[in-house]
Amino acid sequence: LMQQAYNEVVKYKDKVSSDPYRLDYHLMPPVGLLNDPNGLIQYKGVYHVFYQWNPFATTHGAKYWGHYSSTDMVHWRLEPIALAPREWYERNGCYSGSAVEENGLLYLFYTGNVKNEDGTRETYQCLAVSSDGIHFEKKGPVLRLPKGYNAHFRDPKVWRSNDRWYMVVGAQTHDEKGEAVLFTSTDLYNWEKVGRMAGSGLNGLGNFGYMWECPDLIHLNGKEVLLVSPQGLKPRGHLYHNLFQSGYFVGQLDYRNGKFRHGDFVELDRGFDFYAPQTFTDEKGRTVLYGWMGITDEDEQSQPTISNNWVHALTLPRKVELIGEKVYQRPLVELEKLRKNQVRHQNVKVEGKQVELAGVNGTPLELLLNSVRVGKGKFEVTLRNEAVLSYDADKQEMSLQRTNVKTKQPEIRTCKLSSLSNLQIFMDRSSIEVFINNGEEVYTARYFPAPDDLSISFKGNAIFDLTKWDLEKIK
Ligand code: FRU
Repeated sequence: LMQQAYNEVVKYKDKVSSDPYRLDYHLMPPVGLLNDPNGLIQYKGVYHVFYQWNPFATTHGAKYWGHYSSTDMVHWRLEPIALAPREWYERNGCYSGSAVEENGLLYLFYTGNVKNEDGTRETYQCLAVSSDGIHFEKKGPVLRLPKGYNAHFRDPKVWRSNDRWYMVVGAQTHDEKGEAVLFTSTDLYNWEKVGRMAGSGLNGLGNFGYMWECPDLIHLNGKEVLLVSPQGLKPRGHLYHNLFQSGYFVGQLDYRNGKFRHGDFVELDRGFDFYAPQTFTDEKGRTVLYGWMGITDEDEQSQPTISNNWVHALTLPRKVELIGEKVYQRPLVELEKLRKNQVRHQNVKVEGKQVELAGVNGTPLELLLNSVRVGKGKFEVTLRNEAVLSYDADKQEMSLQRTNVKTKQPEIRTCKLSSLSNLQIFMDRSSIEVFINNGEEVYTARYFPAPDDLSISFKGNAIFDLTKWDLEKIK
């Protein structure tokens, strides 16, 4: 299996790298389809990012765990495949999961996915162990499907609290409600249920989706934050317009019964392509998040990269902090290493008509707008004639518009924003990540401009200081 996967990489290497939409400084599959980030950890000083990977097609299928490693979070090495779906308990995929270190060993927890011919599913939460971070020995299932749940039960995230290990699993109850379920262990091999942590219809939450994927419980600023990707939320006002959502609840976990008392759900990202994020704490004590810069929807198969045998990427790594009850995300400071060819414009005044600024164009690049003051009406930044970022000072709304890959029609995502003071925009060859007001809101999206259109223009009423850097290609 592994050899077949490597053959695919070699076979399509030139075709994949010839794609004008191949990204310069994001993690991508060497061939085929990538989805969730998995097993994020800094182990023996080295950063490891694993990812859901189908090497054989640009569709979803029996997933592998692909693997990248890094010592600086900027430059990455493609490592050998970590997990291939070989055993009976993972026949249809080594699905998403997480990593922890204990006594010098690296433990990967993941979901063994089995689909039977009669259409039924089986699910096993599995363990694989490594002493070098590269080669993994499978230990098989460590947790079976508990009573009360359908086989949509997956994506174990493991952490330690005091003297015990905890695991949260994403689940669907028999009556088709999404839920996060808590388990505990003292030895990482034997797991018992603690309780129902949170879910649709639990802890005062109303109907909140039929399945919760990729839960992650993290500790920020003395509080607990449950990240989760619920499926089945209906659009409401400006919210929940993607097929599936990713967001968080801030609260307090009672480790004795598993109950998580929490506030309202908040979306982590306001753009089009963001799903299944996962975090880890690095040796500097930072909580770092990666998301999948994509989503399983009917549009994904219309992405133009598919004709070059690859699809999807991970987001940039982001430092996560809790300010009040709000999660802020900022690009990791290490990414400044990519900067070159700085261009600065102080006190730029945009008054009505569309303008370009000397030396401010190209891609891949980073744009930083500081001390932004927006006058009456709108302020717009148009990126490569394909994406328009717009702030409406009267309505106090931010929005991002792009062209839908399938319908070729414009589509828009809007969020409430009481004021705009700062914008940090990362453009790669077919992606944009926009950090607003130092990470208060984030927009993540893929977009596919004409490869030779490098224009950036500004319109409306605003004053700002602007710095632009070209960004280096990482490999
Ligand atoms: C989320 C997800 C997970 C699952 C994995 C399979 O995108 O559906 O729930 O483990 O992808 O690739």
